[in-house]
Amino acid sequence: MEKSKVYRIALIPGDGIGPEVTNEGVKVLQAAARKEGFGLEFVRYDLGGERYLRTGETLPDGVLEELRGMDAIYLGAVGHPEVKPGVLEQGILLRIRFELDQYINLRPVKLYPGVDTPLKDKGPEDIDFVVVRENTEGLYASTGGFLRRGTPHEVAIQTSVNTRMGVERCIRFAFEYCRKRNRKRKLTLCGKTNVLTYAFDLWERVFHEVGQEYPDIERDYAHVDAICMWMVKNPEWFDVIVTDNMFGDIITDLGAIIQGGMGIAAGANINPEGVSMFEPIGGSAPKYAGKGVINPMAAICAAGMMLEHLGEESAARRVERAMMEVVARHMRSMEAGKMGLSTSEVGDLVVKYVEEDRP
Ligand code: IPM
Ligand code: MN
Repeated sequence: MEKSKVYRIALIPGDGIGPEVTNEGVKVLQAAARKEGFGLEFVRYDLGGERYLRTGETLPDGVLEELRGMDAIYLGAVGHPEVKPGVLEQGILLRIRFELDQYINLRPVKLYPGVDTPLKDKGPEDIDFVVVRENTEGLYASTGGFLRRGTPHEVAIQTSVNTRMGVERCIRFAFEYCRKRNRKRKLTLCGKTNVLTYAFDLWERVFHEVGQEYPDIERDYAHVDAICMWMVKNPEWFDVIVTDNMFGDIITDLGAIIQGGMGIAAGANINPEGVSMFEPIGGSAPKYAGKGVINPMAAICAAGMMLEHLGEESAARRVERAMMEVVARHMRSMEAGKMGLSTSEVGDLVVKYVEEDRP
């Protein structure tokens, strides 16, 4: 008999509700692996606010080196009320994205049947698109600094870095993804060409240049402010949206709320040639931590994205089908405390459907 594949997954539960939601994700992953006949070995890393407060460490170099050797990383959340904002985000989350060159942040915006959207008269047939966010450059590159800090003549400079290489690989990924997705075959560049006339001049030129190689994909453009309006008014227009790091950060929170909120929004930090990281995008939500009321569905969706990325497509479909059943048939709301189920009950139900065999 062929020896079954075993994937090594770094598990970083992190802060706040991170451990609770990744627990449920791990249960679902293990059930899917059992059913589909592959193995998962989780290597747990204690990173986050507690460790930082205890030892002063965010992401030790030795851990980073170990992460480089994993098949994937599964992350809960980072952010701790007693730690100054930025320390953990930059020291852990952004450092992993940058060091592992996870240059794509892939964020599906999909309204599942049975989930409430705040958009009037819109349903699952209208809200189903994917944002491809550049994940290693732009304003997040953190270039700049202070001059005369703390004085009345203080200057703070933070510049957006856009390299030809970085923009091109992101745009190329988006075209490829759009082709593979094979829906509307429309790629929308989201920018601000009327004001950011250097950065988005580059983005726009690369978009049309690379686009020549994809005559089957319709090219579309929207300014970032306008897209915030269209995503609310006409979400059905979109198929795949490609944008820079900062705009991608902002519009995917808007995306998350129209797909039912942070309880169900997941994302993937992808290095197509390296190690990728999968996470619910909602943050550590410390006020809900330890209460068993948080919705683990976003973490479960992130787990599904991880399976897909590992090439376990059948397992990924199994997880998506199961989560759809639970969402449509068992959950009253996607909001913490209003689900009508506890965190682990949601996970258990998803496991139950994962274990069911369907034609
Ligand atoms: C996200 C988050 C992060 C970001 C923060 C926590 C650094 O908001 O993943 O969208 O800005 O990228
Ligand atoms: Mn964000």
